[in-house]
Amino acid sequence: MKKIGVYTSGGDAPGMNAAIRAVVRTAISQNVEVVGIISGYVGMIEGRFQKLSLRDMANIIQRGGTVLKTGRSSEFQKAEFRTKAAQNLKAEGIEGLVCIGGDGSFRGALALGNEHQIPVIGIPGTIDNDIFGSDNTIGFDTAVNTALDAIDRIRDTAASHDRLFIVEVMGRNSGFIASYVGLAGGAEEVFTPDGNTTVELAIERIKKSMAKGKNSSILITAEGQKPGRAYDLAEAIRKKTNLDAKVSILGHQQRGGSPTANDRILASRLGAAAVHSLLKGQNGLMIGTQGLTLVEVPFKEATETHKKSPLDLVLLANQLSI
Ligand code: F6P
Repeated sequence: MKKIGVYTSGGDAPGMNAAIRAVVRTAISQNVEVVGIISGYVGMIEGRFQKLSLRDMANIIQRGGTVLKTGRSSEFQKAEFRTKAAQNLKAEGIEGLVCIGGDGSFRGALALGNEHQIPVIGIPGTIDNDIFGSDNTIGFDTAVNTALDAIDRIRDTAASHDRLFIVEVMGRNSGFIASYVGLAGGAEEVFTPDGNTTVELAIERIKKSMAKGKNSSILITAEGQKPGRAYDLAEAIRKKTNLDAKVSILGHQQRGGSPTANDRILASRLGAAAVHSLLKGQNGLMIGTQGLTLVEVPFKEATETHKKSPLDLVLLANQLSI
């Protein structure tokens, strides 16, 4: 292999730049040229390519977002557009790809690889940490710390006013951020998208805490399928009690910012391993981590298996917030 392409796809995640840097510098050290594909599958369809040099990668390890830009492409779900993308890649002389993204991006990569015989290796990059087969995804640790920082501040004002707060974190289909910040932030209850609890249970918990002299509480909810879900919860609580819950939606700030050390290290390891895997002739798989070990997980397994939210963390948060 003499030339490979790299792209970021789906929602951006802090640490994607560190992964791009690792891919580019590892490939060049193996005498392989690297082309950046701009804006993910959108750029692949439009032929937006840019040769990347060692020096292009200077001073990006600490930057959030992605220097290659990213996007979600509904067109790429259609075979005709994948054919167009494959023609562009072949015309550019790109013989293999590294895809940095989430499960939707891997599904696109799998289809492209199967239909047009272009080897693709994936790197899990999403703040949601919802990719089966890898303990962690790039960006998750940073997003958790960003959300936690906000929750700590909210706790100060909640305690000062004896208030109930509902804080909404990201995660359309994933309760990972919610569960982690729930435990780390001392929340009374955590609502994941899996329907792990009910408003009635949360109210019961808050009332028990109040009976024990606790005057402020924080509930965490993942946005689930409906960003703004926290307002519905606040309304439901208001209807069933006379408690007036304040709502704080953290939103996209969780996607930005400088990656934590953990995310930079993870991204660097995964980026380097992805290139070695591609050059060894591997195809159609993701590099992930299990414990401290790097593992190869077929795209099919990574995209078709649901990674369950860590309910044990939520139960522990419940126990410890009495
Ligand atoms: O990248 C994952 C994620 O941040 C989800 O947690 C969230 O539901 C979704 O992306 C939001 O997507 P968009 O940025 O397109 O609104």
